[in-house]
Amino acid sequence: MNRKVFIETYGCQMNVADTEVILGILTKEGYTPAEKPEDAGLILVNTCSVREHAEQRVLGRLGELRRIKRQQPGVLVGLLGCMAERLRGSALEQEPVIDLVVGPDEYRKLPELIDRAFEGEKGIAVRLSRVENYEDIVPFRADGVSAWISVMRGCDKFCSFCIVPFTRGRERSRSLDGVVKEVESLSARGFKEVTLLGQNVNSYSDGKHDFADLLAAAARVDSTMRIRFTTSHPQDLSGKLISTIASHENICSCIHLPVQSGSNRILGLMNRTYTREHYLSLVSAIRREIPGVALSTDIIAGFPTETDEDHRMTLDLLREVRFDGAFMFNYSPREGTPSYRMSDDVPAETKTRRLNEIISIQKDISLENNRALIGSTVTVLVDGESKRSADYVMGRTGTNKIVIFARGSNKPGSCVPVTIHGASPATLFGNLASEFSADREAMSA
Ligand code: SAH
Ligand code: SF4
Ligand code: F3S
Repeated sequence: MNRKVFIETYGCQMNVADTEVILGILTKEGYTPAEKPEDAGLILVNTCSVREHAEQRVLGRLGELRRIKRQQPGVLVGLLGCMAERLRGSALEQEPVIDLVVGPDEYRKLPELIDRAFEGEKGIAVRLSRVENYEDIVPFRADGVSAWISVMRGCDKFCSFCIVPFTRGRERSRSLDGVVKEVESLSARGFKEVTLLGQNVNSYSDGKHDFADLLAAAARVDSTMRIRFTTSHPQDLSGKLISTIASHENICSCIHLPVQSGSNRILGLMNRTYTREHYLSLVSAIRREIPGVALSTDIIAGFPTETDEDHRMTLDLLREVRFDGAFMFNYSPREGTPSYRMSDDVPAETKTRRLNEIISIQKDISLENNRALIGSTVTVLVDGESKRSADYVMGRTGTNKIVIFARGSNKPGSCVPVTIHGASPATLFGNLASEFSADREAMSA
């Protein structure tokens, strides 16, 4: 029995964090992580159902795994995550390559299901839980600069387009103490940044503490550690949270605040529970209290019944807010969600045209926002090498902008001042500020 496991992860950061939980469970049982799928006796695919396209990528990948399995018939393939929860037993029927189907709240059963699968018995576990939060599992993480911590699971918002409440179940939070202990251990291991994760972190509650309390407690652990968080729902973002971000140096001044649409009619149909006016006043309050804050968002183009007028209101909102970044999607009907019952009546060409307009406007705005930083000096936490050249390193500002600059003596984990001299819509280019000033001194000497 080959106890090497390879996990491929699709979808959101919560799946990335879950993969570390799964590896935590399996390494405790004697499994070791494999470098590549060909080395593994067990290949697990942690999947996403949020859009049709996300599922299609996984189905394509299963086709390739079929080939690996033909060459090495002993290999087990497991479907995990949101697709496992959505497709359940039908995944086993439709895709004979799959030996195991395990939903997001059943990962503790993996060792037992795998043992049985090695004996030839296919397994399925897809019950959702109201309490499971894997609090006692130590996630398996390689050493590094930045770590993810899930602070809650599930979602109770039921936006009409969204599959997440059905694949992840009801919302539940970990304890503040458990999260703080995890931050402490990451700090002791030399991590420089943690991102607290939930589908809607603003509704975090462990019975005694809200999300602002949790952020403040995480920030107190290590003042040199950056604390980030995602995702915020506009309805639940409190004044207390804004002032907590404003008053802690090491809580990053950047908020991902998905708006989805600029039209109140569409927001209503989406069951987003806020209006455009509420959203805009929230943005003003955030900007008033947190100077230099970066805001990013998610937009859906072509929700059922969306007219050109609704679409124009989304474009107007983009121009008005001037986000630093956005994730932009075509509406994808998901079976079982409330909006699936509405007819997907915006023609594909119209959706794509609208999406392209959204992308084009946002790209111009991102570029203008980034260009405005040219000449300023920002603090960059170095993540690793630049993808293009080993002479350059890549890092991020507190506002989560990517910065590329000449490596010098910097290693991942260094936090350094960088003066910006160039900008593209998604990236800033700079020079180490100390080298820069040293050069100038040399020149004037
Ligand atoms: N919890 C987060 C994000 C969840 S999914 C939130 O509330 O914003 C990430 C993004 O995917 C969503 O913000 C939305 O923009 C997009 N999305 C979700 N379901 C979708 C669908 N059916 N079609 C297109 N985009 C979708
Ligand atoms: Fe989906 Fe809405 Fe929950 Fe986000 S808040 S996960 S979009 S249901
Ligand atoms: Fe996808 Fe599930 Fe995350 S549907 S976005 S992996 S919660």
